[in-house]
Amino acid sequence: MKKKKIIVAITGASGSIYAKLLLDAFLKLEAQIDRVAVVMSDNAKQVWETELNDISYQQYPFTFYHKMDFNAPFASGSAKYDTMIIIPCSMGTIGRIAHGISNDLITRAADVILKERRKLITVVRDTPFNLIHLQNMKTVTEAGGIVCPAVPSFYSLPKTIEELAQTVVDRVIDLAGLEKESYRWNE
Ligand SMILES: Cc1cc2nc3c(=O)[nH]c(=O)nc-3n(C[C@H](O)[C@H](O)[C@H](O)COP(=O)(O)O)c2cc1C
Repeated sequence: MKKKKIIVAITGASGSIYAKLLLDAFLKLEAQIDRVAVVMSDNAKQVWETELNDISYQQYPFTFYHKMDFNAPFASGSAKYDTMIIIPCSMGTIGRIAHGISNDLITRAADVILKERRKLITVVRDTPFNLIHLQNMKTVTEAGGIVCPAVPSFYSLPKTIEELAQTVVDRVIDLAGLEKESYRWNE
């Protein structure tokens, strides 16, 4: 299998734990991954520090890009990244993507992934949704993106917050086309 080039964007929705667990998982999937590029919004850093009470996002050995760095390779389709995962994805970010407002590296990269017909996975998070949120998710879905809400499952009987959050992250990893052992119903 060809190794994947993956963009991970972290935005300021609640659920920094999902981003942390995904980056942790990618550390162990290096045989399947060529490179991981990470970009965080300003609010993503603030929410991470609030929810996880640390700045451990600085410790990952992946390449981090500033959210306004349009010189990042994946700001252009020519860089041929396979997949972009926005985790968690705020309503603001999905709204800007739905309307083509590519005013930072996250929204520009998503715009590129969609125009190149590659895989965009948006792990949206808010509750409840208003009609604008739902319409934006519909628009992104119609444009070829995947809306994978940060909604955990309980049938694997998770015992901790990490195990519960991992149910979302494992589904994202499946959607990205990566092989990882995880709980599978009735297997
Ligand atoms: C602690 C905290 C939790 C938040 N949770 C959410 C959320 O779950 N969903 C959401 O859409 N916005 C949430 N927000 C608001 C976003 O951070 C805000 O709308 C921001 O402008 C999003 O920008 P970004 O997409 O560039 O990160 C939260 C903000 C804070 C400080």
